[in-house]
Amino acid sequence: MTVVAIDGPAGAGKSTIAKRLAKVLGWAYLDSGAMYRAVTVVAMDAGADLGDGEALARLAEALDLELKAEGTVLVRGADVTKRIRSPEVTAAVSGVASVAAVREVMVSHQRRFAERNEYVVAEGRDIGTVVFPDAALKIYLDAASTERARRRLGQSDEVAQGADQDAVRAGIEERDRLDSTREIAPLRPAADAWLLDTSKMTLDEVFEAVRGRVRSAIRP
Ligand code: DC
Repeated sequence: MTVVAIDGPAGAGKSTIAKRLAKVLGWAYLDSGAMYRAVTVVAMDAGADLGDGEALARLAEALDLELKAEGTVLVRGADVTKRIRSPEVTAAVSGVASVAAVREVMVSHQRRFAERNEYVVAEGRDIGTVVFPDAALKIYLDAASTERARRRLGQSDEVAQGADQDAVRAGIEERDRLDSTREIAPLRPAADAWLLDTSKMTLDEVFEAVRGRVRSAIRP
């Protein structure tokens, strides 16, 4: 198993870069954030108390989740790909992801996924620090929050819902705060991660830089 780990805050370009890299290399793509989002959708549908860690852990354990190669997310066979990106889920997911027992279940899902695939590009917050500490290459993508908000607004859903840049930036900063100050697996670069500040780069430039790094670090 060979893993490229891509971590970083919301809107740093992880998904775009990880997906494109997986496609170009013909590797499997693991979106760990989609897993925490799927638990959040299931908890909301069940009317669960999102502050009740034990209830969330039970739901996570029973979760029948399937991540398709092209990014489709199925829960008990139903397609929730769109719903997991809704503003309600985005606002609630950091809380759900801070529950230790939920993380335990998700991390074992993620490791099983990697066991089934020889080459994996995995993105998230704790991929290089916790999930795959032996990853062949760890990349930490970052960018200024104003720039990340601008990029998020370019992703049509939130524009359609009339969000403004300040509100999006505030949401991103709050999520960063929750993700990086939680006790378990907080968002931070691994000691041996390659840090790339993408604030002044286009996504094409980021992709080329990442691809070059993968080429020199990994020789299949
Ligand atoms: O990358 P994303 O926005 O889809 O992630 C959704 C949330 O899930 C994010 O607020 C933090 C959490 N998350 C996490 O705690 N650990 C991961 N490996 C991936 C995501």
